Amino acid sequence: MLSNKAFIGLVSLGATFLTNLETSTELKWTDCYAQLQCARLQVPLNYSDPEGDAASIAVTRLPSPLAGTDGYKGPILIIPGGPGGSGVELVLENGVLLSQVLGPNFDFVSFDPRGVGRSTPRASFFDTEAQRRFFDTSFGVINATSDGLARIWARAQITGALATQHNQNNIFEHFNTESTARDMLRIVEAHGRRNIQAWGFSYGTVLGATFASLFPDRIDRLVLDGVLDAESYFATRWSTSLLDTDKTLQAFFDSCFEGGPDLCPFYESSPEAISRKLDDLTRTIFLRPVPVQTSISYGLVDYERLRITIFQSLYTPYATFPVLAQGLADLINGNGTVLYQILEQPVFDCACGSPAPLTSISDGGTAIMCTDGAEVRDTVDELEPFVQGLLRDSQWGEVWARIRIGCSAWPKQEKKHFKGPFLGNTSHPILWIGNTADPVTPIAGARKMAKGFPGSVVLTQDSPGHCSIAAPSVCTIGFVSAYFMNGTLPDEGVVCPVVQPIFSGQPADIGGGPGPSLR
Ligand SMILES: *[C@@H]1O[C@H](CO)[C@@H](O)[C@H](O)[C@H]1NC(C)=O
Ligand SMILES: *[C@@H]1O[C@H](CO)[C@@H](O)[C@H](O)[C@H]1NC(C)=O
Ligand SMILES: *[C@@H]1O[C@H](CO)[C@@H](O)[C@H](O)[C@H]1NC(C)=O
Ligand SMILES: *[C@@H]1O[C@H](CO)[C@@H](O)[C@H](O)[C@H]1NC(C)=O
Ligand SMILES: *[C@@H]1O[C@H](CO)[C@@H](O)[C@H](O)[C@H]1NC(C)=O
Repeated sequence: MLSNKAFIGLVSLGATFLTNLETSTELKWTDCYAQLQCARLQVPLNYSDPEGDAASIAVTRLPSPLAGTDGYKGPILIIPGGPGGSGVELVLENGVLLSQVLGPNFDFVSFDPRGVGRSTPRASFFDTEAQRRFFDTSFGVINATSDGLARIWARAQITGALATQHNQNNIFEHFNTESTARDMLRIVEAHGRRNIQAWGFSYGTVLGATFASLFPDRIDRLVLDGVLDAESYFATRWSTSLLDTDKTLQAFFDSCFEGGPDLCPFYESSPEAISRKLDDLTRTIFLRPVPVQTSISYGLVDYERLRITIFQSLYTPYATFPVLAQGLADLINGNGTVLYQILEQPVFDCACGSPAPLTSISDGGTAIMCTDGAEVRDTVDELEPFVQGLLRDSQWGEVWARIRIGCSAWPKQEKKHFKGPFLGNTSHPILWIGNTADPVTPIAGARKMAKGFPGSVVLTQDSPGHCSIAAPSVCTIGFVSAYFMNGTLPDEGVVCPVVQPIFSGQPADIGGGPGPSLR
C-alpha cells in the first residue's frame, strides 16, 4: 500500500523494458538492465479456464554466480508489496544489495504481478498517461479541506466509473491475489523446482500467506516481512494497519532529540517540544502554503504535501528522517525546497495522446485491492464512523482512509477467488518478521497471521520503519541468511537490535528500504 512509489503513482523506468520479448510457458532468459536477465512467462488468465486467454508475466532475475556448482541454492522469489508494486523494479533497485547480504548462492527473482507494470494485460482506467495525470493530482488527505472525506469519495465515484468503462470482459476480475499466488507457483516450476523459496514484503505477505494456504506442501523457505493482516485486507477495511504509526512518528521526535542540534536541524530541548514545533508548523502551512521551484519541477508545500511527506518518511526512517528534519527546519524559515524534494517527481511531460508506457501506474494496485476485497458501497455518511475508527488508532487515519474509500464505486464482480482462511501445515515453517514501530504493518499482524501456520516463528526487530530492511540490523540479516542457507529458525520471542542510531551523521548500510509498496 502506498509504497512510496505506488502511492504517488511514480513512473520510474524506461518504456521499452521487456515489451519485445517473446512470451513462453518456459523461462527464456534474455540479458537486460546490465547484469539482470528478463523473461516473459505465459500463464492462464483464468486458472479455471486454462485453455482460454493467457497473461504474460514480466519476470526478472539477478542470476547466481554459483549456478551449476555445489554452492548453488536456487532462486529466491522476491514478492513485491503494494498491491501494485513492481517486482521487476524491486530487483533492479535492490538485487545487488540482496545478493551481498544473503550471499552469491541464490538467484534473486521477481515479477510484476498480473495487471501491474510490464505484465500484460494490465489494469488501466485511462486511455492515455496525460488523462491519468491530469485527473489524479490529489493525495487524498481528509483534513486538507473541510469537505475532504466527501471529496475523496466523489473522486472514487469517477475512478469507479472509468474502471467500469475499461473493464472489457471483466478483465479486472482476474487481477486477484489467488491468481498471482498461482502465477508464483508457475514461476517456481518454470525454474525447474517443485517448492518455493521466497521473501515477501508488505502486501507481498498477503501473497505469501495465500500461497502457503493454497500450497502448504510446496514451501522450502518463506520469509514474510512487514506483515499485513490478510483478513482486514480481504474485508477492504485496512483497519488494523495504524496501531503503531504514532509510535513511528514518536521515534522521529525521540531520535531527533537524541541526535542533538548538530545532527538534527529540527532539534528542541525535549521530544515533546519537537512534537509541538511540528504541530505549530503544520498549522502555519495549512494557512500559508509555500511555493517551490527546483531545476526539475515546481509546486506547493501545502498541508496535504506536508502530511503525506511526513507519513511517507515513516516508512524509511534511516534513509529519510535526517532529510525530513532538514526540510522541516528550512520550512520554518519559509524555504520548502528540501521538504518538497522528498517526494519530488519531474514535471509531467509526454507525447500527448500516446498510450502509457509499460511502467508502474497506480491503477494496478487499485484493481487488485478492490477486486480482492469485499464490495464497498458506503455513502459519505456511512464512511464517517469508519474514519473515526481509524483516527482512534492514529492521527494518520486521515491519510489511510482513502484506501477503502477508493473501492467504493468498483465494478460489481463475482469474487470467487480465495479469501482465506489463512491456515496450513507447511512443508517448512514460515519465518515472519515485524518491527516494533512499523507505520503500516504493525507487528500485531505478524502475530495474528502466524497463528494459522504451526511451527512458524515471529522474529521482532526493535526499530521504526516499514519491513526489516528499513533499518540496519546485523542480527535480523543473520537470522534471515541462516534461514535461507540452512533452514534454521530463530527461537520464538527473539528481538533483534539495530546497529546505529537514526541521527548518526553516517549513512546506514541498509536502511533505504526496498520501497516495498504498501498503500
Ligand atoms: C473463469 O472460468 C470459469 C470456467 O470457465 C468461469 O466460470 C468463470 O466465470 C471465469 N471467470 C472470469 C472472471 O471470467
Ligand atoms: C479531520 O476530519 C475528520 C473526518 O471528517 C474529523 O472527524 C476530524 O475532526 C478532523 N480533524 C481535524 C484535526 O480537523
Ligand atoms: C532554499 O534551500 C535550498 C536548499 O538548501 C537552497 O538551494 C535555496 O537557495 C534556498 N532558497 C532560498 C530562497 O534561500
Ligand atoms: C495441521 O496439522 C494438525 C495436526 O495434525 C491438524 O490438527 C490440523 O487440522 C492441520 N491443519 C491444517 C490446516 O491442515
Ligand atoms: C549454516 O550451517 C553451517 C553448518 O552448521 C554453518 O557453518 C553456517 O554458518 C550456517 N550458515 C548461516 C548463514 O548461518
